[in-house]
Amino acid sequence: MPQSQPQPEPRPQQSPAERPGPVSRVDVQLGERSYSVHVGPGARNLLPEVVAVLGARRAAIVTARPPETVPDPGVPSTVIPVRDGERHKTLATVEDLCRRFTAFGITRHDVVVSCGGGTTTDTAGLAAALHHRGVPVIHLPTTLLAQVDASVGGKTAVNLPEGKNLVGAYWQPAAVLCDTTYLETLPAEEWTNGYGEIARCHFIGAGDLRGLAVHEQVTASLRLKASVVSADERDTGRRHILNYGHTLGHALETATGFAVRHGVGVAIGTVFAGRLALALGRITAGRAEEHAQVVRDYGLPGALPADADPAVLITLMRRDKKAAGDGLAFVLDGPHGAELVPGVPEDVVRRVLDGMPRQGGPAKP
Ligand SMILES: NC(=O)c1ccc[n+]([C@@H]2O[C@H](COP(=O)([O-])OP(=O)(O)OC[C@H]3O[C@@H](n4cnc5c(N)ncnc54)[C@H](O)[C@@H]3O)[C@@H](O)[C@H]2O)c1
Repeated sequence: MPQSQPQPEPRPQQSPAERPGPVSRVDVQLGERSYSVHVGPGARNLLPEVVAVLGARRAAIVTARPPETVPDPGVPSTVIPVRDGERHKTLATVEDLCRRFTAFGITRHDVVVSCGGGTTTDTAGLAAALHHRGVPVIHLPTTLLAQVDASVGGKTAVNLPEGKNLVGAYWQPAAVLCDTTYLETLPAEEWTNGYGEIARCHFIGAGDLRGLAVHEQVTASLRLKASVVSADERDTGRRHILNYGHTLGHALETATGFAVRHGVGVAIGTVFAGRLALALGRITAGRAEEHAQVVRDYGLPGALPADADPAVLITLMRRDKKAAGDGLAFVLDGPHGAELVPGVPEDVVRRVLDGMPRQGGPAKP
């Protein structure tokens, strides 16, 4: 499939302006590995307090944003500049970080602070997990996607030339500070990316978050993620529901060589999941249309790229981690809410893909 970026028709939803207000707290309950996520304008200023509670003696600040955007942690610290982006999410960067930690004398009595997009929180998180077999890490995520998803839940990973996220570890952060004022400089494309994840929360238990201020949307999305992670830290059951819309989304990312961004793929995948659930008799036509409407209301595209090849997408979806054996498996809405549905017949998937609207084409009912 040629590499073409589907164009969202409307602009990403612009949330009401952030006003200074109370920072909300979401607790991730994991026994002795429990931690809090603080969300709101100014949340980054809690850094010295969180570092003091941890009792860390010094801090390594791994930042992809300008160093002055990270508050003084209140203990002796070193700043390690890094770059966001999949290209830098590698074992070579992890090695480099661990060598910098060693040079500064970072041990398990200290703390790593990561500041940047999801690529940086993933990479610094893995370096913290591996250095001295585990140094506490505090994330300061700076993209909407990293705030609603990547920085919370303890999955860390880097890429290999063979594929994304192939080497990683579970390493829960000691705290996450989602300062929504970081988002003020975010380009429209990155808002779209994050809203793909927020839109899918509508169908997995977060309720209707349309029209709320962004810090409320992030908080509600994280409350949902925290409850799911608390019940299934290692992704063996319920955590699958967080992959709502992701099976087709990942296939679209791969088929287009990542020209379709993650959040856009998830948005299209969410519309598809609604149509597939309808085709399988799991939901009503009205509920399926709600999928398309929610995605539209977040300013996201719900149509397949004009040149998407259903056969290629089905081949890619068969490789999905959720699929057992050769079957096709999807997280789908239904009478009991979203759940993993294995063994979905290929002819039904094909029919639904064929019936999806196409970018630039006429809208299909
Ligand atoms: N660990 C998990 O559970 C999990 C979950 C979801 C996604 N992820 C990972 O997250 C990564 C994607 O994260 P991402 O979307 O944040 O991408 P990213 O880290 O590449 O950042 C996207 C872009 O935003 C820019 N940016 C970051 N903060 C900014 C700011 N405040 N203002 C202006 N520009 C800013 C970056 O420079 C970059 O160009 C992927 O590698 C994915 O695998 C991990």
